[in-house]
Amino acid sequence: MFEARFSQQIDRLTHQDHGAWETHDRAVAMKNNGEDVILLCVGDPDFRTPEPIIDNAVSHLRVGRTHYSPALGEMKLRRAVADLETATSKHPCSPSEVAIFPGATNAIYSVMSCLLNPGDEVVIPEPMYVGYPSIMAAIDAKVVSVPLLVEQDFKLDMEAVKAAVTERTRVVFINTPGNPTGSLIGRRELAELAAFCRERNLWLVCDEVYSMFTYSGRHRSLRASSEHLDNVVMVDGLSKSHAMSGWRIGWVVAPQNLIERLGAHAGATLFGCPQFIQDASAFALENDQEYVASMRQDYAERADYVVEKLEKLNGIHCHRPKAGMFVMCDVDGTGMNGREFARALLDAELVSVVPGDAFGPSAKNCVRVGLAQPRPVIKQAVLRIKRFIEALPARS
Ligand SMILES: Cc1ncc(COP(=O)(O)O)c(C=O)c1O
Repeated sequence: MFEARFSQQIDRLTHQDHGAWETHDRAVAMKNNGEDVILLCVGDPDFRTPEPIIDNAVSHLRVGRTHYSPALGEMKLRRAVADLETATSKHPCSPSEVAIFPGATNAIYSVMSCLLNPGDEVVIPEPMYVGYPSIMAAIDAKVVSVPLLVEQDFKLDMEAVKAAVTERTRVVFINTPGNPTGSLIGRRELAELAAFCRERNLWLVCDEVYSMFTYSGRHRSLRASSEHLDNVVMVDGLSKSHAMSGWRIGWVVAPQNLIERLGAHAGATLFGCPQFIQDASAFALENDQEYVASMRQDYAERADYVVEKLEKLNGIHCHRPKAGMFVMCDVDGTGMNGREFARALLDAELVSVVPGDAFGPSAKNCVRVGLAQPRPVIKQAVLRIKRFIEALPARS
């Protein structure tokens, strides 16, 4: 008789603890059952992909751009990314320093596959984006997380990051603007961290997928901030900035020695992204000022609205995001931790938020409120949260 046996890799992925997603999964099931659930848990933009980008993709489909594409990406998209980098950084960037992937997730996975051996350590500040632990589990790298403190507004703790490095560390992995915290890492800190990593012979990888959604303060890219580029790697993509999550386009900007290896990796695992999607993505990057700015403005207004309203509620303290698509709210004052709060809110008012411990233990008393819903829906959700808080027994 056949006994199905699976790889250790997929066992590691399948047995990850998804407890923090229980409320989210329940919310989605309830919504699919026709219940009037408001989902504030996802990071998928509610905006439609701008019409000119759709038209551009269709026109490229019609002229037959439906064949294989180079493993590292179409030259015109690599050039568009390089031009963007050159425009926003003091270092000129050439297309040979750019590789295209189906989304930032795959870009990060591919980069880490090229940099880490099983058992190697990767230092990551937490709370961190929920996708990171799975990627590291896939390549059997060990995540060494560095807690960022809620009382310090989740600011990067440089000394703690440095102290977490051991002789097994190969990579320090950061995220600015940050998900879930909406905080920014400043130019000086990025420069200091890059110099530290270089001195310790470590790669510094930075996920910048929210780079175009900064509301207060400026986004500083790792590349623009670093003096030397031979150990720095940047990941970005179109999912958030251009409301193109389903198109699956992301990229890596890195030294050529890593790009060449990424080419070998992509050749073995992907064999290129669809031509017409890359064509439209290049068009998107070259013609985007107006609609990116208008989406950014909308998210900023939604964030202001949520912070202003929730901050007034008993027991809730919001961290005003400087960027991104989320507001982190500390709910400790309600007598519940994030998981209890999320569960009770869904039960009582059919609003789904993500408990902070989905992103790491330092955020266990928080919930993440997503902004990827039209304003009337957000308004309705805020009213329900208010009703929920007002119905809680008064705490002394
Ligand atoms: C910080 C961060 N990185 C990466 C991703 C995934 O991006 P992509 O859709 O390009 O794979 C997300 C999505 O939520 C994210 O928040």
